[in-house]
Amino acid sequence: MAGNQGPYDLSHPSAYLSWRDARLAARPRSVEELVVEVGDIAALTPSEHGALMARIRRCNMAVYVEPPKPGRDHKAALKALGACCGLTSLDANALADEDGITPLAVHKNGARARYIPYTERPITWHTDGYYNPFERGVRGLLLHCASPAAEGGANRLMDIEGLYIMLRDENPDLIAALMQSDAMTIPGNDEDGLQRPATIGPVFAVDVGGALHMRYTARARNVVWSDAAAPAAAAIRRMLETPSPWRFEHVLQAGQGLISNNPLHTREPFRDDPAFPRLLYRARYHQRITGT
Ligand SMILES: [Fe+2]
Repeated sequence: MAGNQGPYDLSHPSAYLSWRDARLAARPRSVEELVVEVGDIAALTPSEHGALMARIRRCNMAVYVEPPKPGRDHKAALKALGACCGLTSLDANALADEDGITPLAVHKNGARARYIPYTERPITWHTDGYYNPFERGVRGLLLHCASPAAEGGANRLMDIEGLYIMLRDENPDLIAALMQSDAMTIPGNDEDGLQRPATIGPVFAVDVGGALHMRYTARARNVVWSDAAAPAAAAIRRMLETPSPWRFEHVLQAGQGLISNNPLHTREPFRDDPAFPRLLYRARYHQRITGT
């Protein structure tokens, strides 16, 4: 898993410092800087694609805004957007539909009703697929809003590279602990239809291509930290809960979506109007967005 570790190599602080300066200079100053208006996500123009990529290169995420498209097949459109950005390997997930894209809406009954994503309750900080093994980690994440909640439902967002910088600037030992191969254990799940074994792995790892990858959840009951990583986990929690220039918040409206390299994110609580229920589509990919 560890190819050239570039700026993430703890024994080469000069490479880190020049990369850090570039990331700080590129950092958006507000969530509005992430927003790109597009005509149709299923058929981006070269300039729309370029505008999205420019933002993703700065902070690993962008928000698109589309005009209303009544009756449109949102899943097909989302797939086309992914393919246009090099995202083709959808992560299989027991609760996804057969095409690998998950509609997220409140379910009062059935298997989904037991899982927080299908309720109005908040979802705390995490990266998607934190329970996946490294080789099937989620690197690309698309969210598309067909219909927002009556109230609430914002996402808080933080680029994992921003969190890495805050941690390393506080103490590089925190990074070293989080890169250990036994830093975080996600216990297995043995519920019918959702079985998966425990996964043990690092929080931060460097992909063969040199990109930073992160697995994380703040849900204490979902994770066991190694003794060495526990102080770093506490530092992460504090940094996520404290307002900082790296933390953004946005409520996706109808026709808006997030295109990203799987940032840290939350879902704030919401109130649904059963007559116009909240509906988001989520697509998780094993690849990063090409060129970012
Ligand atoms: Fe998520």
